[in-house]
Amino acid sequence: MDRNTSFVVVLVHCYLSLATLFCMFAFARGNPNVLCREVEREALLRFKQGLIDRSNRLSSWIGEECCMWRGIGCDNITAHVIQLNLRNDPYADSFTTFEAFKSSKLGGVISDSLLELKHLHYLDLSGNNFTDAHIPRFFGGLQNLRYLNLSDAGFVGTIPHQLTNLSNLHSLDIGYLFVQVDNLEWLSHLSLLEFLDLSYVNLSKASNWLQVMNMLPSLSELHLSSCELNKYDPILYVNFSSLTMLDLSSNNFVYSTFNWMNSLTSLVTLDLSYNLIQIPLTVVHNMSCLRNLYLSRNNFSSTALNLFYNITTLERLDLASNNIRGVLPRALGSLSRLTHLDLSDNHLEGKIPRFLGNFSNLQLLDLYGNNLGGGTLPDELGKYQKLSVLSLYGNMLSGPIPMSIGNLSSLRTLDFYFNHLNGTIPT
Ligand SMILES: *[C@@H]1O[C@H](CO)[C@@H](O)[C@H](O)[C@H]1NC(C)=O
Ligand SMILES: *[C@@H]1O[C@H](CO)[C@@H](O)[C@H](O)[C@H]1NC(C)=O
Ligand SMILES: *[C@@H]1O[C@H](CO)[C@@H](O)[C@H](O)[C@H]1NC(C)=O
Ligand SMILES: *[C@@H]1O[C@H](CO)[C@@H](O)[C@H](O)[C@H]1NC(C)=O
Ligand SMILES: *[C@@H]1O[C@H](CO)[C@@H](O)[C@H](O)[C@H]1NC(C)=O
Ligand SMILES: *[C@@H]1O[C@H](CO)[C@@H](O)[C@H](O)[C@H]1NC(C)=O
Ligand SMILES: *[C@@H]1O[C@H](CO)[C@@H](O)[C@H](O)[C@H]1NC(C)=O
Ligand SMILES: *[C@@H]1O[C@H](CO)[C@@H](O)[C@H](O)[C@H]1NC(C)=O
Ligand SMILES: *[C@@H]1O[C@H](CO)[C@@H](O)[C@H](O)[C@H]1NC(C)=O
Ligand SMILES: *[C@@H]1O[C@H](CO)[C@@H](O)[C@H](O)[C@H]1NC(C)=O
Ligand SMILES: *[C@@H]1O[C@H](CO)[C@@H](O)[C@H](O)[C@H]1NC(C)=O
Ligand SMILES: *[C@@H]1O[C@H](CO)[C@@H](O)[C@H](O)[C@H]1NC(C)=O
Repeated sequence: MDRNTSFVVVLVHCYLSLATLFCMFAFARGNPNVLCREVEREALLRFKQGLIDRSNRLSSWIGEECCMWRGIGCDNITAHVIQLNLRNDPYADSFTTFEAFKSSKLGGVISDSLLELKHLHYLDLSGNNFTDAHIPRFFGGLQNLRYLNLSDAGFVGTIPHQLTNLSNLHSLDIGYLFVQVDNLEWLSHLSLLEFLDLSYVNLSKASNWLQVMNMLPSLSELHLSSCELNKYDPILYVNFSSLTMLDLSSNNFVYSTFNWMNSLTSLVTLDLSYNLIQIPLTVVHNMSCLRNLYLSRNNFSSTALNLFYNITTLERLDLASNNIRGVLPRALGSLSRLTHLDLSDNHLEGKIPRFLGNFSNLQLLDLYGNNLGGGTLPDELGKYQKLSVLSLYGNMLSGPIPMSIGNLSSLRTLDFYFNHLNGTIPT
């Protein structure tokens, strides 16, 4: 269920509180000085019995010292099992083939013997294959959990309300599952949540999703991509003002004032791509920390572009596949911190402007699929010492390729296909 974006950007957000949490568990992993507790070892073995483990990932789960087993972390003083990390991660585990990744997915039945792990803080079952199973209701009994990751683990059905008991959760990731909710009331009790990912969860029956999220004052990352959110109860104001990342992509928003976003003054990343938004997005002017703005595949017109030129904090601006016409406004030149500019698949005309030379940090410039032309390419293109991707294909550019291009020592992708360029290729 990979999301197909025209502009693949990998963002690493490191938040102090989450980072601390991860560090804590890193310390806990496999400490040879503590002895596993018998009752917890047996609980883990019963859990293992229910699993289908085709690639023998749990082969280390033998012997007395369960704190040394793969994926288990124990408290280094009390020896209680506090971490169970069975994530199947195609990136981290450096699988050589997709087949290898698939066959290392765990499946089967999740035993409620996990309830014996009364001190469990961290449970990660993401990337596995519990296909056709529901998210177990008994997870609600794992009341010490701070981190629960079931992303892409194959679960189906309705998310159990019992999760409401997990009031210590800081991170909840149940994205990329074929699950739905009948209502979201259970979520409002998880008041310590900082990270929430419900991407691909069908929330169409929870038109009060915004009211519910509003009960989560500590939220810093909220991912609600492809949740069928477009019909929602209006709200004037939200109080999760420490939000830094908001992803509402692929939700078929057509017309929305988004006025409630006025209070999101800490926002660093806003993703509204793959919607049908047409109206100017004035709320961005209150976001004084905004660095990443993803708006591809909407219906923004040139007016939208004029709205963004004074957000000088911007580093990544993606307006690919919209309805932007005419020449690139000069004022855009004030976005001097831009590293990624994607205006591909619009209706831009005229020359590639020289002011682009102001973007000395530019790493990606994608203008493919426009009507740019009107003479030769500017020499200024040679100024981008950091440029890695330059895509100008499918325009009406003519004349020679500037020699300065030869100075772009970081360049990895250069695409001039389908233009009217002539002359020689610079050495
Ligand atoms: C236990 O882990 C903590 C960090 O979580 C560390 O500060 C402490 O030194 C460790 N104690 C032992 C005995 O390893
Ligand atoms: C997932 O599990 C189902 C049955 O439980 C099986 O049919 C399917 O092949 C498995 N898929 C993968 C990728 O392991
Ligand atoms: C959950 O696991 C997936 C990988 O399976 C990872 O991409 C995602 O970032 C994790 N979520 C959290 C909150 O750490
Ligand atoms: C949730 O908590 C309530 C009250 O604290 C308790 O009665 C109930 O059994 C708990 N549910 C689960 C699934 O543990
Ligand atoms: C989402 O749920 C609604 C209401 O249950 C349903 O009508 C709709 O078809 C669902 N969407 C998808 C993609 O399954
Ligand atoms: C957030 O606002 C809602 C009403 O909009 C309110 O019910 C809730 O108590 C507020 N939460 C905090 C922590 O202020
Ligand atoms: C910014 O937010 C304030 C309230 O916090 C509001 O009065 C103002 O209209 C907002 N400005 C824009 C451009 O949305
Ligand atoms: C996009 O906006 C234009 C007007 O600016 C409108 O004519 C067109 O129908 C819109 N397209 C979609 C798909 O909504
Ligand atoms: C940017 O311009 C808009 C009007 O287009 C204005 O409301 C806003 O205050 C300006 N922001 C900054 C930071 O200058
Ligand atoms: C380019 O940057 C300079 C300052 O570095 C600024 O004076 C100039 O106005 C900018 N050009 C445009 C078109 O914004
Ligand atoms: C390439 O860069 C060097 C300095 O690094 C400069 O002297 C030279 O003029 C540049 N060449 C072109 C064609 O821009
Ligand atoms: C390149 O094309 C231009 C017209 O677009 C023409 O004037 C010029 O002579 C051509 N140069 C070469 C080397 O073919």
